Amino acid sequence: MLRSVILAASRSSQVERLVATAPYTRDVVRRFVAGAATDDALRATRGLVDDGLAVTLDHLGEDTVTPEQATATRDEYLRLLKMLAAAGLTPAAEVSVKLSALGQMFDEQSAYDNARAICAAADAAGTTVTLDMEDHTTTDSTLEVLSRLRKDFPSTGAVLQAYLRRTESDCRELSSAGSRVRLCKGAYKEPESVAYQSAREVDRSYVRCMNILMSGDGYPMLATHDPRMIAIGEDRARWFDRGPERFEFQMLYGIRPEEQARLAGEGYTVRTYVPYGDEWYGYLMRRLAERPANLVFFGRALISK
Ligand code: FDA
Repeated sequence: MLRSVILAASRSSQVERLVATAPYTRDVVRRFVAGAATDDALRATRGLVDDGLAVTLDHLGEDTVTPEQATATRDEYLRLLKMLAAAGLTPAAEVSVKLSALGQMFDEQSAYDNARAICAAADAAGTTVTLDMEDHTTTDSTLEVLSRLRKDFPSTGAVLQAYLRRTESDCRELSSAGSRVRLCKGAYKEPESVAYQSAREVDRSYVRCMNILMSGDGYPMLATHDPRMIAIGEDRARWFDRGPERFEFQMLYGIRPEEQARLAGEGYTVRTYVPYGDEWYGYLMRRLAERPANLVFFGRALISK
């Protein structure tokens, strides 16, 4: 219930204005977002890489409505990739891209063209791109763009969301050699017709999907903070004899950093998803919806001293 309310608020410009102008919002944002500028993203990446973690960087922004905004997002990724390579942070750092920020809502072809330019720049920088997955109305389009991109850039990765009923079948499709799949639970508000609604059903689906990916020939990226899913992931890695070069754990910046360090210390590959940029609102609200305990922290941001 609370999750639905917060996810509905994530689409409200009125709530966005209220949150953006509240006195402590900046402190809350800082916990989950590396900063507004490209230099902030590089600084955070350097710190994480020095601590033995891999990184994927996300320039915040979604639901772009003009070609100019889409081009600006593409250009920011091109700039970022050059800076990462110049700083010697590739291949430890890769990038994550939302097709909706590249024009998917109004022109799939231009979203593809923009994503292709980012994949070419990542290739030149010696690293890779993973396409984030958004709400279920975009899944087919995103997987179609992925399959086109993979013809020239086979290491381009996809995200699959365990809460969608279709995902087990998508995992089978994408578990072949060379295929990089980030498996997450899913962060959007979805109808029962397409998505499991209870945490228990989502968890069971996550484990079924993990079994398919970990027993397949691709490169699974287990994106979760859930201690049970992580323990099952460790178990499957032993069972299917997958060393640190054949799968990885992934978590979000600012969430369970001590667990990220523990897993890396045990020899696993662990990648931190680092968002940066001004457009943090939708991202922040999805993080709050996942863990209502964060609301206590967040509530302070809405109350002035
Ligand atoms: P869940 O939220 O169910 O939490 C389970 C348990 O994990 C909790 O009970 C607690 O024990 C622990 N936990 C969770 N958060 C914690 C916290 N803040 N502090 C301490 N313990 C905590 N989604 C999407 O729809 N599209 C996408 O492209 C992506 N991309 C993505 C990339 C990466 C790298 C990650 C890690 C996640 C995503 N997501 C995503 C988000 C994902 O779908 C999901 O919403 C969140 O990861 C939360 O789900 P969990 O699996 O972490 O468990």
